[in-house]
Amino acid sequence: MTTATHADEFVSLLKSLRAVRQFVDKPLPAAAVRDIHEVIRWSGNASNRQEFQVLWIDDRATLRQLADQKGYVKHLAGAAAGAVIVTWMEGDELNAFDEGRIAERIMLAAHAHGIGSSIGWFVGEGRAGAAKVLEVPAGRTVRTAISLGYPAEGALRGARRKPLGELVRRV
Ligand SMILES: Cc1cc2nc3c(=O)[nH]c(=O)nc-3n(C[C@H](O)[C@H](O)[C@H](O)COP(=O)(O)O)c2cc1C
Repeated sequence: MTTATHADEFVSLLKSLRAVRQFVDKPLPAAAVRDIHEVIRWSGNASNRQEFQVLWIDDRATLRQLADQKGYVKHLAGAAAGAVIVTWMEGDELNAFDEGRIAERIMLAAHAHGIGSSIGWFVGEGRAGAAKVLEVPAGRTVRTAISLGYPAEGALRGARRKPLGELVRRV
């Protein structure tokens, strides 16, 4: 059962998740990586079809190759690990939704361990380029990557958000 303290801690974790794109050169502990992988496994997904796979990369040369692909993925170059989500459902809305859920959970599980992360999107030919680097079979979608690592000093920029009343409106 969730107690008030647990709820406070959990909500605080959710609220404090920020994008981190600069990392220190330090590997991720095996226990944290195992937790993140288990969270991926238990992520809810469309009709529980589980038509996705997360490719986990901690080889620096491969991370640099991915960072060179077209998109907003340069932060993969300095990451301790990268997660690339591969999907193959018919209907891109379903794939995109699953990717969003999985990506957010990876980031939250990492954050719970003090590990920073950011989403990055491959765009245009960057998607085929990333698929080639990772030897993904034809017909599968490669779009979303997450870079992970311990935050470098100054990596946590101040967050900007609209006032609550603009983002949530009681009707
Ligand atoms: C669908 C989606 C795509 C994103 N794509 C990128 C991206 O390609 N590159 C990147 O550096 N950040 C990307 N982000 C991260 C956003 O820039 C980040 O969540 C936003 O700026 C808020 O950051 P903050 O929580 O640190 O304030 C993406 C986020 C989402 C939800």
